[in-house]
Amino acid sequence: MSSDSQTLRQFLLAEQRQGRVEQDMVLLIEDIATSCRTIAHQIRNGAFLNILGATETSNVQGETQKQLDVIANDIFIKHCPNCARVAALVSEEIDDVIWLKDAPKAGDYLVYFDPLDGSSNLNVNLSVGSIFSIVELAEDITELSNEAVLFSGAKQVCAGYSLYGPSTSLILTTGHGVNGFTHKIGTGEFNLTFPDMRLPEETEEFAINASRFKKWDASITRYVEECLEGKDGPRGKTFNMRWTASMVAEVHRILMRGGIFLYPKDTGNADMGGKLRLLYEANPMGFIVEQAGGKASTGIERILDVEPTSHHQRVSVILGSASEVDLIDSYYKENA
Ligand code: AHG
Ligand code: MN
Ligand code: MN
Repeated sequence: MSSDSQTLRQFLLAEQRQGRVEQDMVLLIEDIATSCRTIAHQIRNGAFLNILGATETSNVQGETQKQLDVIANDIFIKHCPNCARVAALVSEEIDDVIWLKDAPKAGDYLVYFDPLDGSSNLNVNLSVGSIFSIVELAEDITELSNEAVLFSGAKQVCAGYSLYGPSTSLILTTGHGVNGFTHKIGTGEFNLTFPDMRLPEETEEFAINASRFKKWDASITRYVEECLEGKDGPRGKTFNMRWTASMVAEVHRILMRGGIFLYPKDTGNADMGGKLRLLYEANPMGFIVEQAGGKASTGIERILDVEPTSHHQRVSVILGSASEVDLIDSYYKENA
């Protein structure tokens, strides 16, 4: 990359001139980028501010909140309403939908976010991230309820994530491919460092929490066992495995060099429908992966086609290189 690569603002304004994003969306994405830079700063200084530990509160998912879960959530809630078209916010950390308008109109935006993903990694100084998704209302909303924000992932007009790793990245799609930006220290800017990201079609690397293997269904067990058999098994090649317990880090690695990520519904989480949340984890990551040429499935159907029934709904997630996702889908068909 050249040292004078486009800033996020230059990139977004060029997209706007081509009619690919509206001005209000440019403003909203810039506010989300500001949120992510601010969160990155808090994380980097977390040890000095004594904010790397847990709080005494739980979120609606029943998970103990980390101090930085709450801080990151507050930062999103501070910045996202700047754009006058934002009608509601849906956060992993807040029980109910936050309505910003009394009478949301067609064209208004709903913003869904996981303010801090992978937060169990915070106190061991490993990568975490933020995930966001934006839906544009096709019709006016007449009743403000939690049900009013239930749209399938196919309705997303923008999705992205920020990875707080050795550098801070912002990965973005508005439905015209995927572009990756890196925060350039000292400038306050994200710069376009990974234009038009494409996910390799094939892979030899998978990511799953293997400690749950006794809980898996037959299709996941078969897939993983066949990978582990290596060159002499049915796959005829040696597979590598990774697990960071941070979906953002996992998806980013897969975008950069291919791979597959699995957090399936299993006997340990089936009563909740899986582990990962549909509206602010699976949908945005599914949209990004598809826009980069990969696939995202529950094993039974495309993630983006799942019709949500509740705003904190969980779902089975299998995403990454297209041929691997197709293979697992075929195992689910055989076992149906
Ligand atoms: P969050 O920190 O937002 O609750 O999400 C954590 C998620 C995801 O990032 C990761 O893939 C998964 O939980 C890790 O789960 P395990 O602890 O079961 O490995
Ligand atoms: Mn998460
Ligand atoms: Mn989270």
